Amino acid sequence: MGGRERFGSRAAVIMAMAGSAIGLGNIWRFPFIVGQNGGAAFILVYILCCFLLSLPILFSESVIGRRTSRNTVGAMEALAPGTSWKWLGLLTVISPIIILSYYSVVGGWSVEYLYKSLTIQFHPDNVEAVTGMFGLFTASGFKVIACLLLFLGITAGIVFAGVKKGIERFSKITIPVLFVLIVVIAVYSMTLPGAGEGLKYLVHPDFSKLTPDAFAAALGQSFFSLSLGVGTMLTYSSYVRKDENLVASGAGTAVSDLLFAILAGFAIMPAVFASGIAPSAGPGLVFETLPYIFAKMGTGGVVISAVVAILFFITILVAALTSSISMMEVGVAYLSEERGLSRAAATAGIFLFALVVGIMCALKGSVFDFLDKLCSNFLLTLGALLFSLFVGWKMEKEDVKDELTNGGTLHTNAKLFPIIYFLIKYVAPVSIAVIFISGLLG
Ligand code: PHE
Repeated sequence: MGGRERFGSRAAVIMAMAGSAIGLGNIWRFPFIVGQNGGAAFILVYILCCFLLSLPILFSESVIGRRTSRNTVGAMEALAPGTSWKWLGLLTVISPIIILSYYSVVGGWSVEYLYKSLTIQFHPDNVEAVTGMFGLFTASGFKVIACLLLFLGITAGIVFAGVKKGIERFSKITIPVLFVLIVVIAVYSMTLPGAGEGLKYLVHPDFSKLTPDAFAAALGQSFFSLSLGVGTMLTYSSYVRKDENLVASGAGTAVSDLLFAILAGFAIMPAVFASGIAPSAGPGLVFETLPYIFAKMGTGGVVISAVVAILFFITILVAALTSSISMMEVGVAYLSEERGLSRAAATAGIFLFALVVGIMCALKGSVFDFLDKLCSNFLLTLGALLFSLFVGWKMEKEDVKDELTNGGTLHTNAKLFPIIYFLIKYVAPVSIAVIFISGLLG
């Protein structure tokens, strides 16, 4: 596959992967789940999950992707020809397209909310109307679909531009900007009167809330947040150069994602508590509570609250885009490499599919919820489990080592290899299976 594109540098790999990882999962899910499951105690469990279970899965996907330089289906066929493993390849083409469909609906909402903040609709004179805005907006099918179309259109445009000129360039510019923005918002948020309660919510360890559910929540959240189990990281790794250090870029990605999630917590929760509202999850938090807070903050200065609102919705929109492009790329790689479609046709095909399913999700909340649950509670975990089993039990140990140490030339990785391999082969699959099955049993 000589003509295949490659990311240009280590920084490019980390930015693209971190771009995929950093998204709505960090901004609207993480802060809420933390508070619900015991604050700092949960963050501790989450960090352990990240490094002991998620990172080995990221390495597994990286090994498969870079070893083969193929899309998810092609990779399975190259490493295990004629076996049922090709179904894992197919599963991980389909699941990111499903995620793309409903994720883009939310991406579309953030387009509208950026517009609302640019036109200063979260104004102190409007405080009472602001929380109702979300209901009004989502009830207007036309507007929601127009925003979805715009979001998916931008996603498709970047993906169509290619791995280097589209994905790499976009992520390299936006990821550093996202970090600056989230730090600025966090610092501002922590200076609000009453912010202390929000900080307490995030950092006060409450070990009594660490139930078995908290472990399942940590695992699910860290897979979703690191884009694991759906072939995204496998596909991105297939564009990583042979002389790149997979362990270093994987660790860099995981650390960036974790840092961003914690910063998002510090950006959002102090502001929520300062305003005296109970934190809610998901759409309610980002599209109802926060606009209300921006509007109320306006009494102390309309300009500053408008600026913070604009920065915040730019952050959400861009973070969502760097993730949605990674979901679309999986299917585009498959269709163009295995099905002989041009990149343009492959991009257009996935764009249309996601648009149709996205419209169904936008119009029917039950479809949205069903697909979200199907993916985040089931497909992601299943994919992650199978990837670790594939690398730990199906591939030759020597091949895995060869890939993670670049043929033995990376000495630190060679020293770490026994630990990494043990995590991939035993710790990750056993823990995931236990948490997964106990979740299924209720
Ligand atoms: N990691 C992304 C987020 O946190 C979501 C995602 C999931 C992206 C699966 C790609 C694949 O928002």
